[in-house]
Amino acid sequence: MHKIVFRIGLLGAALGLVACGGETLDGAALVQEKGCVACHGVDGKAVAMIYPNLNIQWEEYLRKQLIAYRSGERQNAIMGAQAMSLTDDEIRALAAHYGQ
Ligand code: HEC
Repeated sequence: MHKIVFRIGLLGAALGLVACGGETLDGAALVQEKGCVACHGVDGKAVAMIYPNLNIQWEEYLRKQLIAYRSGERQNAIMGAQAMSLTDDEIRALAAHYGQ
């Protein structure tokens, strides 16, 4: 599991470099690049019960949670690490993709 997450992470880094054009971010591609799919699935339906479903939430709520994880206001070891390096634009695109 961890190996897979790591590989997806590496792939994401490579794709991220290619995608650095300043164009509007594609949320569907971003969840693959960032490895979110490993736990939250491609459409926000979690792959296991220990992970929350994101497709049942509002976009605005998800955006706020990601910002809170990034700032440390909401503390969780896994999501803190995930959100740490996200930009505002990426958070907006991720929340728009997973949220309603
Ligand atoms: C290794 C598994 C894993 C990965 C990868 C992961 N998450 Fe999570 N995510 C979790 C877990 C576990 C929680 C619940 C944490 C908590 O209790 O605060 C969570 C919570 C969240 C929440 C808050 C949900 C809620 O209902 O409040 C959001 C939003 C979220 N993740 C988005 C993302 C995004 C976007 C990515 C990719 C950048 C991502 N996650 C990557 C495991 C993961």
